[in-house]
Amino acid sequence: MGRQFPFRHYLLAVSLLFPGGVLGQATRLIANTSARQTVNLDGQWQAIVDPYDVGFLDYRARPLTNNNAFFKNYKPQSPSELVEYDFDTSGHLYVPGDWNTQRDSLFFYEGSVWYKRSFDYVKSPKERAFVHFGAANYKAFVYLNGEEIGRHEGGFTPFDFEITNQVRAKDNFLVVRVDDTRRSDQVPTVNTDWWNYGGITRPVSLVILPESFIQDYSIQLKKGSTEQITGWVQLNGLPLQQSVAIRIPEAGIEKTFKTDSRGHAEFSFNANLQLWSPESPKLYAVEIAGETDKVTDRIGFRSIAVQGTDILLNGKPVFLRGISLHEEAPTRPGRAWSEDDARTLLGWAKELGCNFVRLAHYPYDEAMLRMADQLGVLVWEEVPVYWMIEWENPQTLNNAETQLKEMISRDHNRASVIIYSVGNETPISEPRNRFIRQLIDDAHSADATRLVSAALQPTGAMQGDRTTLQINDPLGEAVDILGTNEYIGWYTGRPEDTDRTDWTSPFNKPLIMSEFGADALFGYHGASQTRWTEEYQENLYEHQIAMLKRIPFLRGMSPWVLKDFRSPRRTLPRFEDYFNRKGLVSDHGERKKAFLVLQKFYHDVQVQPPK
Ligand code: GCU
Repeated sequence: MGRQFPFRHYLLAVSLLFPGGVLGQATRLIANTSARQTVNLDGQWQAIVDPYDVGFLDYRARPLTNNNAFFKNYKPQSPSELVEYDFDTSGHLYVPGDWNTQRDSLFFYEGSVWYKRSFDYVKSPKERAFVHFGAANYKAFVYLNGEEIGRHEGGFTPFDFEITNQVRAKDNFLVVRVDDTRRSDQVPTVNTDWWNYGGITRPVSLVILPESFIQDYSIQLKKGSTEQITGWVQLNGLPLQQSVAIRIPEAGIEKTFKTDSRGHAEFSFNANLQLWSPESPKLYAVEIAGETDKVTDRIGFRSIAVQGTDILLNGKPVFLRGISLHEEAPTRPGRAWSEDDARTLLGWAKELGCNFVRLAHYPYDEAMLRMADQLGVLVWEEVPVYWMIEWENPQTLNNAETQLKEMISRDHNRASVIIYSVGNETPISEPRNRFIRQLIDDAHSADATRLVSAALQPTGAMQGDRTTLQINDPLGEAVDILGTNEYIGWYTGRPEDTDRTDWTSPFNKPLIMSEFGADALFGYHGASQTRWTEEYQENLYEHQIAMLKRIPFLRGMSPWVLKDFRSPRRTLPRFEDYFNRKGLVSDHGERKKAFLVLQKFYHDVQVQPPK
């Protein structure tokens, strides 16, 4: 093509393509796809790395629709025809997987990559077919057989598109353009302390369903109750009016309800069930059976509520012995996505003595939440409203709301999930307060059974030689549980300063100390005042724990962080090398000294819960 065009034109063109900013999802999320009839599309996909989006825009930055568009997967029809792309000779990338850890040349790459996967599927007449993505970071443009079928924005939530009328028996080609370019109006925005792993990072499948199928359902204990189940079922496709049975065979429960003309039924009934808790994570097989479709799920029943400064699990006060994580694989570089990854990471948390994890700072793969259900680990999950978001940009708000609703829609039957977090370390301002209050309301209206929190900003004052830190962030009024991050002894002051630090809050609510910590390079030893040593981190944890024990309204904590993780903000050679080293476990799975300090504290708390 030869003639280059100024890059900013390209960015402008891309933003014009999505006037709404947010990419609409073709269909409402299909619940529990792993329990449906599926065709797995994981494995090696052909891939074209396209830093200048030449497969998407022409040299005038106008969207391509002719055969030059990569989604056409076009082949030259004669030796003289010019076609400048070819999936068949462009190499492969694994799906699921981030591209950054699959090729050294893509380690720092941010931009577009085109993926192609061919498949055959003989659909029977009465079937409907959908393509389901666990997630793709950050924007995904999905095409089937040369036609666009949908777009999605947000790197950490699932999406599906119906392909019933597009799929053919043989030689389907599914093409996905994934663009993880960071932009200020996005969620998260341009600055994060985690790696911007790009790609189709979670499993992809074809989901085969009957003409009228069970789209979604919610079956949970009523808020504050331990014996009344409430819920709903939503059908998709005609006939919408059906009788639907809810069966919990092990508890001898079978209830039948009728869906209305919109395919919706609400229900409520009493049930004498063994309650789910970390000590006994009881899951029941639950069947939702309509006249044309049936789906089975494994659901735990527990109640979660706050009462003054207490958090009540099944009506009893609970202390959340937690740890924060990032969704990185435990024993290999890159994003985690599998059941094994989840089992290992949660296993390490349980080895620490945890009954709680904070899944920072974005929704994780569904496998993690289902594993938390199974292993009995309470969960704080979060949408990536992180640091400086464009608070006054309506598209950005719409985007954050969509990601929140997608997360809740996917996880509202998971007993382990007790807290939805709608922000992390966001600076106090009226536009920010309005933005996050809207998310808090959205979460409460989408799911009345769970608690809402955020990592809020504390303010502090010295009195004599003591410091009093106050959690008086105006959002403290709207959240159910206060969360706050503090880095006394790392970013501010010395570890010993915690000995002279007290905490107060005007809100009669429980506090979760959602982050504290220090960096340590595994195997680097020295005096406890020497930064980067294991001894410095160990000493900091000892002082932090002593301070936390003195906070009267503390009801949980999730220190930063379980494992060293990749961050583009961490450039210090030898000590960081693009890793945040605040892990209690190194990036090679080695336990640091502070791991034992926290483990001992959690053991003591189990023996003698704090008052
Ligand atoms: C912040 C932030 C984390 C970050 C951590 C750190 O509090 O929430 O995402 O990694 O501090 O600086 O290590």
